[in-house]
Amino acid sequence: MTRATAHHFLSLTNVNGAEIGEILRRSAQLKAEWAAGRRDPLLAGKTLAMIFQKPSLRTRVSFDVAMLQLGGHALALAPAEVQLGERESPADVARVLSRYVDAIVARVYAHADVVDLARHATVPVINGLSDLEHPCQAIADFLTIQEAKGRLRGIRIGYVGDGNNVAHSLLLAASKLGSSITLASPPGYECQPAVVAEARAAAEQTGSQIALTTDPRLAAQGVDVLYTDVWASMGQEHEREVRRQVFAPYQLNAELVALAAPDVIVMHCLPAHRGEEIADSVIEGPHSAVFDQAENRLHAQKGLLAYLFGVSGGPGIGGMSIGGMSIGR
Ligand code: CP
Ligand code: NVA
Repeated sequence: MTRATAHHFLSLTNVNGAEIGEILRRSAQLKAEWAAGRRDPLLAGKTLAMIFQKPSLRTRVSFDVAMLQLGGHALALAPAEVQLGERESPADVARVLSRYVDAIVARVYAHADVVDLARHATVPVINGLSDLEHPCQAIADFLTIQEAKGRLRGIRIGYVGDGNNVAHSLLLAASKLGSSITLASPPGYECQPAVVAEARAAAEQTGSQIALTTDPRLAAQGVDVLYTDVWASMGQEHEREVRRQVFAPYQLNAELVALAAPDVIVMHCLPAHRGEEIADSVIEGPHSAVFDQAENRLHAQKGLLAYLFGVSGGPGIGGMSIGGMSIGR
């Protein structure tokens, strides 16, 4: 992360493995501290504005509660209130909000909008999901994998489905943290080549193996983590029927789980469409980690906010090992 981008969190393309590891370490530490009853108001007096152009449950509530638990305050702005790019340009919204608040989360359609906000804001801007990436989700995902598997380096992940925002951030984080990943998508629905190229370059440094396939069984073979996401993302509702047919062979079902490692965990960022991208028996089954994953959105937001604001509190408890090297306490 260069200084120009250091205080924003828009994408995992310009973040390195050590920085992701540090956000994960802080997330794990703050989770352990909260569980132990510590209530340090690390963000006392800080305010977070959240701009939503799309619906949200997890992102909205977890950032709101994270700010509250850290002693700060969050305010959510619904699409009709801001009308980003319609009532007012991202540049003006960024400059005005920077005069009121200490950080901005934005969930947008076009990734360019969150970039535009960051370019004009004088406070940190966090991507709360764009058409290109969902970096906050990836932090919670790897916190969950770390907790379930005790390590990230060498973990094998199989992603089955659309090469979308969630897949992009998962792929980038995996490549930078030394986890291996195979993505199975139908032809025409793969991850964007620029994102794959960035991940491959990172993988050369970390030893992560990256594979792309159209065969969901190849992605599931022997993996420690099986991951899927919706077939039609927000904004693609008009493609839903076509996608239902194209993606039908890509359902994360019991047959795929049977190909994976016996202790595989099943992940989904939620919301899920049972009977489409994931079978009900799988999301409700013994391998499912989806609600631990959803909970970790809260702890990951705290870790990210603490990282961006440069606050850490007193001596930590807990900690975690990233890539085989212990960086926690
Ligand atoms: N996973 C996730 O981002 O959920 P929301 O869309 O509910 O925020
Ligand atoms: N890919 C999904 C993720 C939702 C959290 C979407 O963009 O709608």
